[in-house]
Amino acid sequence: MRAIYWNLTDRCNLRCKHCYLQDILASPSEPLSHELNTQDCLKIVNQFEEAKVFFVTVLGGEPFCRPDIMVILRHLGKKKFWTKITTNGTLIDENTARDLADAGIRGLFVSLEGPSAEVNDIIRGKGSFEKTIKGISYLQDFDIPFNIQMTIFKVNYEKIEEMADFCSRIGAERVVFESFNDFPSKDQVSSFLSLGREDTLAAAQKTTELMAEYPEGFISTDLDSVLGFLSPEPDPAAKDKTFVRCDLGLTQLGILSNGDVIPCIYMRDKVLGNLMETHLSEIPNTPEVQKIKDLRNITVDEANEECSLCKWRYVCGGGCRGRAYLKYGNLLSPDPQRCLLVKKRTSQVNQG
Ligand SMILES: C[S@@+](CC[C@H](N)C(=O)[O-])C[C@H]1O[C@@H](n2cnc3c(N)ncnc32)[C@H](O)[C@@H]1O
Ligand code: SF4
Ligand code: SF4
Repeated sequence: MRAIYWNLTDRCNLRCKHCYLQDILASPSEPLSHELNTQDCLKIVNQFEEAKVFFVTVLGGEPFCRPDIMVILRHLGKKKFWTKITTNGTLIDENTARDLADAGIRGLFVSLEGPSAEVNDIIRGKGSFEKTIKGISYLQDFDIPFNIQMTIFKVNYEKIEEMADFCSRIGAERVVFESFNDFPSKDQVSSFLSLGREDTLAAAQKTTELMAEYPEGFISTDLDSVLGFLSPEPDPAAKDKTFVRCDLGLTQLGILSNGDVIPCIYMRDKVLGNLMETHLSEIPNTPEVQKIKDLRNITVDEANEECSLCKWRYVCGGGCRGRAYLKYGNLLSPDPQRCLLVKKRTSQVNQG
C-alpha cells in the first residue's frame, strides 16, 4: 500500500457550502465517542510503517480541531512518511506554526476558494478568508512552505487567473485547482455551485493555458481529465477501453476517524475492515478489496448499458467511480458529472 488518505477527525470549525462531509461534521468541542484516541492513532502510524506506506495525506474534518494533532504529526514525521496535511488554515496560530516548524512538517495544503474574502467567504463563511490568511502569515513567519488548494465552482471559476497570480504573490509553492464533486447534502443548493458543461470546459482550458505561463509544477489540476471533451466529436483515435482510470483498489486507501478502512474517501460506507481489529497490511488481501480490484477486468464497453452506448466512452472511461457510487450506490454506474459534459450534444448514443 503506497498512499493513505486519513480522515483524522469529523470535527470542523467551518461549514463550507460545498463540503461532502457537511451532513456528518461535528463542532470542534463536541465529544465524538467513535473517534480514535491518541494512542490508537499512534498505533495506526506504526501500522503504516509495517504495511510499507509511503504517502500519508491527513485531512478531516479539520485536522487542527484535534488537540493531539501535533503528537500524531510528530510521530508521522519521525517515521519519515511523505506527509501532506490539508487544512482550512484558520486554526493555525503562532504556537501551531512553531510546532509544525519544529516537527519539520513541510507538506501543508491550505484550502481557499478565491483570491479575496468576497469570493472565498461565499463558500467558506464570513470572516474565513481573513483567518486563513492570518494562519498562512504564521507559516511564513516560521518559513514553512505552503500550497493552496482551490475547488472550482460557478462562483469562482472566472477567478482562476487572479487566484494563480494571488498565490504566486503570497509565496505559495504551488496552487492546485480541483474539480467540485457535486454530492448534494441536506442544505446544499448545488445549482449555485456546480459548473455547467461550457463553464467546466472553459475552466479546464484556462487552467491548462496558465500552467504553460507559470513555472513548471506551480499549477496543478485534475480538470485536465475533461479536456478530451472540448472537441465537438470524440477523437476517433481514442481507443482506451479502461473503465477504472485511478488507483482505486490498487495503491491507495482511505481511513476514517474510527479506524475504518475504505477504498476511496468518497465511499465512506464501503468498509473493508477496521484497523483496531485488522492490520492494514492484511486489508489488500481481503475478498472485498479483490472485488474492487476485479473492476479493472471490466471495460467501459461492459460496465453498464449507458456507457456501452455512449460515443464518448473511450474518451471518458465512465468517469469517477466515487461519484458514480455516491449517486447510484453502484460501482459500475456512469459518473453523472461526466454525463453532464455530453448531455447537451445532439446525440450521446453511438451511431456507428
Ligand atoms: C474535506 S476538506 C478537509 C480538510 C480541511 N478541513 C480543508 O478544508 O482543507 C479537504 C478538501 O476537500 C475539499 N472538498 C470538500 N468538499 C468537496 C467537494 N464536494 N468536491 C471537491 N472537493 C471538496 C475541500 O475544499 C478541501 O480542499
Ligand atoms: S473546512 Fe474542510 S472539512 Fe470543514 S467544512 Fe470546509 S471543506 Fe469541509
Ligand atoms: S459520459 Fe457518461 S455515459 Fe458516457 S462514458 Fe462517460 S460516464 Fe459513461
